[in-house]
Amino acid sequence: MNNYRLPPGQTGLPVIGESLSFLFDPHFIEKRYCQYGSIFRTQIIGRPAVFMIGSEAVEFVLSSHMDHFSWREGWPDNFKLLLGESLFVQDGEEHRKNRRLIMPAMHGTALDSYFGAMETLTQQYLQKWQQKGELVWYEEFKHLTFDIASQLLLGTNTGAEAARLSQLFTTLTDGLFAVNPLRFPGTKLGKAIAARNQILHYLTQVVKERQENPTKDALSLLVQARDEDGSRMSDRELIAQAMLLLFAGHETTTAMLTWLCLELALHPEVLQRARDEQFELASQELSLEQLGKMPYLDQVLAEVERLHPPVAGGFRGVVKPFEFHGYYVPAGWMVSYSIKLTHQLPEIYPKPQHFDPDRFSPQRQEHKQRSYSLIGFGGGPRICIGIAFAKMEMKIIAAHLLRNYEWKLLPNQNLEDTRFPTSRPKDGLRVQFQKLN
Ligand code: HEM
Repeated sequence: MNNYRLPPGQTGLPVIGESLSFLFDPHFIEKRYCQYGSIFRTQIIGRPAVFMIGSEAVEFVLSSHMDHFSWREGWPDNFKLLLGESLFVQDGEEHRKNRRLIMPAMHGTALDSYFGAMETLTQQYLQKWQQKGELVWYEEFKHLTFDIASQLLLGTNTGAEAARLSQLFTTLTDGLFAVNPLRFPGTKLGKAIAARNQILHYLTQVVKERQENPTKDALSLLVQARDEDGSRMSDRELIAQAMLLLFAGHETTTAMLTWLCLELALHPEVLQRARDEQFELASQELSLEQLGKMPYLDQVLAEVERLHPPVAGGFRGVVKPFEFHGYYVPAGWMVSYSIKLTHQLPEIYPKPQHFDPDRFSPQRQEHKQRSYSLIGFGGGPRICIGIAFAKMEMKIIAAHLLRNYEWKLLPNQNLEDTRFPTSRPKDGLRVQFQKLN
């Protein structure tokens, strides 16, 4: 290192630092970015931290200098406490080995085999929604994506048991960013731990059943997976990975689908183009092959990912000191790379607040001018393992909605973005829903 100049910034109040502004000020990162640029220093959750913004900074964290960073040391302790010893908080060889074991269950022929169940469940929900007439879409998508995740990832039945489990996950998710660290039964964290225990109890049974009688779901593949040296995951690992996949596999997709439906309702011209693309394909039934022939829907989904990324950023612990733009960051600090603000930089995306799927048209390709510009699923060797699963699921749901249904926003609702625990319109998006004439 040439010098020891720390990044610019403030450390805030003793002990709590700038934690409250980080949690409650939606413009926390943006304000400091305007003042200090692509790297700034702060103190949150009791630790010195830097935020890094922009494609170059993101590439640095996710790829070119990733060996300076640890996931385990980065994510807040509540993540480890509530989500267990799973891929999300593993590093090094342990992570590589487990990722290799999980990958086949989320890609290739296994993924293709999920198409049928995703579509069947989608159609069941569409009929239910039509009968209901009015719905809160965030809640409904949560049930649908959870049913899809529990059937395809765990092989369990949908219905009452899945609804109970989905409720437990909601309580667990509320605890991930709980400010109060007390673990009493009445606190958010206490309730989240109780929910975690019930989920673990349930998953212990399910793992046992899949070991005795493997079916065609992701967990059954994991139960049978062997590494090159013949080793397999322990029961404890299997339970933790199943817990993570179920959690990560529905919260985020729910958020993106809700924003998709809101943006389509607010932009009739985009909605019509997306419908026209579907109508051209609709002489035949939806199929896996057809999913690859929807370039405009791909653009719309990319724009939703850009403007409303469900995960606003990622956390890492610094395990080797590093230098970025002449600033020195010591080991032991925390780093957060910003997905949300990187997606809003006008030098990458002109008029960034404007919802414009044509940014991703073959003529414009704004995200290809610099690498690591569209990072809603992270990037580099640890890019989201469920990216293909999530994209397939969202396309199936969107294709059916566009071909056969219409929806109108109900009056008197708050559409502002609520950031925690996941990004969504505050009232969950209330709509009137009916079959398309
Ligand atoms: C719209 C849907 C989704 C979004 C926006 C999303 C976003 C992300 C992001 C941003 C990361 C990287 C976080 C970081 O760098 O710190 C990530 C990692 C991960 N995601 Fe997703 N995700 C989605 C769906 C899914 C699904 C469906 C699954 C599983 C069924 C999943 C499982 C995971 C796992 C296990 C990781 C950690 C991967 C590793 O460390 O190797 N995600 N996701």
